[in-house]
Amino acid sequence: MQQELKIKDKTFEIYLSEEEIKKEVFRLSEEVRADFDSDNLVFLIVLNGAFMFASDFLKLCEPNCFISFIKISSYQGTSSTGKVNFESEINVDLNNKDVVILEDIVDTGLSITELSKKLADYNPKSINICSLLFKPDSFKGEVIPDYIGFKIPNKFVLGYGMDYLQKGRNLKDLYQLKE
Ligand code: IMP
Ligand code: MG
Repeated sequence: MQQELKIKDKTFEIYLSEEEIKKEVFRLSEEVRADFDSDNLVFLIVLNGAFMFASDFLKLCEPNCFISFIKISSYQGTSSTGKVNFESEINVDLNNKDVVILEDIVDTGLSITELSKKLADYNPKSINICSLLFKPDSFKGEVIPDYIGFKIPNKFVLGYGMDYLQKGRNLKDLYQLKE
């Protein structure tokens, strides 16, 4: 594991190791699994950022759950644009289903707030949000995540699915912007 790395104009330092993340993903999956009947459960993966978290998380879940994807964007560089773009549609039946949204990180909370409102139109039985990371000091949304891995300070992070200008997503560990 590299202690420090440079991507474009920014330097990042190690924040959470692959082992620490894996342990928390395991704990989160146990928590979520205990709360739902997997037969009626739809996991909705928020692309792009959540792909790595979702991949590890879902390997620990029952094979009879539904899995679907939605692509949303709101970030440019190291900050939120304040606008949420839906780049794909919901393409799974959510009627009377328990929906668990899988997110990499909840920062301002704008994305999950907009997504939850959109999902409500599809008549699900329940909507819950499971986010690996949460930045409470940055949060100004209406919907708080129901399942949270790590609460982290209001600093830009990179790796484990999360990017800086589309780079660094494939890092196994999580890095933090060095200032
Ligand atoms: P929010 O709408 O501000 O809560 O953030 C939405 C999305 O922006 C997250 O799902 C991430 O994909 C991305 N994002 C937020 N904070 C960070 C960060 O620190 N690093 C990388 N991506 C982030
Ligand atoms: Mg995301």
